[in-house]
Amino acid sequence: MASADPATRLAELQREAAACNACPLHEGRTNSVFGAGSSRARLMFVGEAPGYHEDRLGEPFVGQAGKLLDKLLASIGLKRGDVYIANVLKCRPPNNRDPQTAEIEKCRGFLEQQIGLISPAIVCTLGNFSTRLLSGQPHGISRVHGRPQAMPGSDIRLYPVYHPAAALYTPANLKVLEEDFSRLAGILEANHQAKVEPSPKVDAAPAANPQVAVESTDGDAAAGGDGTGTAPAGEGMPGGEQLGLF
Ligand code: URA
Repeated sequence: MASADPATRLAELQREAAACNACPLHEGRTNSVFGAGSSRARLMFVGEAPGYHEDRLGEPFVGQAGKLLDKLLASIGLKRGDVYIANVLKCRPPNNRDPQTAEIEKCRGFLEQQIGLISPAIVCTLGNFSTRLLSGQPHGISRVHGRPQAMPGSDIRLYPVYHPAAALYTPANLKVLEEDFSRLAGILEANHQAKVEPSPKVDAAPAANPQVAVESTDGDAAAGGDGTGTAPAGEGMPGGEQLGLF
């Protein structure tokens, strides 16, 4: 019988992913890369698929893109252990090619169960693949980045940002990613405040800052309250505990 404890159940699922042969990607893997971080995280990141280094080590985001992700986390006062990091695919596509639809369909159950067990307040999708999968919308990341939206069928907020790999060699993308990350801190804080002191429900009104416009009106203050757009990055940022991550 399945265990009810999220950490134990995640460990069981990780073993299932390690033995999975539902798609041909299992033939080329050294390790499956299930995910890493806190099973109680309030903030979860979802990337695309493991690359070379991740496949070798069995850990998500351990290459250059991962180093950038670490820096971005540090810029908002967080470290890996404060969050949970997963990918759409658990096995590396050959030569780091894009995930294919059939692979995503075979693998998505793992991600959906991870999200269900961890039950984060915010899922930050990194790039097109996780954003399209979890939003159920076809829009590309350049259109939807930096705008919190509802995750269909849940009260989790989805916050799409550029994939760190897209920012590694393109300074303009890096700037956008850094700006979106700095807003993430405010969104987290607002989410925490909303849980601590539920604010009166306000009618949906046009957001002052279009970057933080909310695409749903489900009454979640985390989505569109005044705390979403202004938090400074870096020094003075609240730590994970203050952000309600634990
Ligand atoms: N890119 C991803 O999308 N995921 C990883 O784990 C590493 C690089």
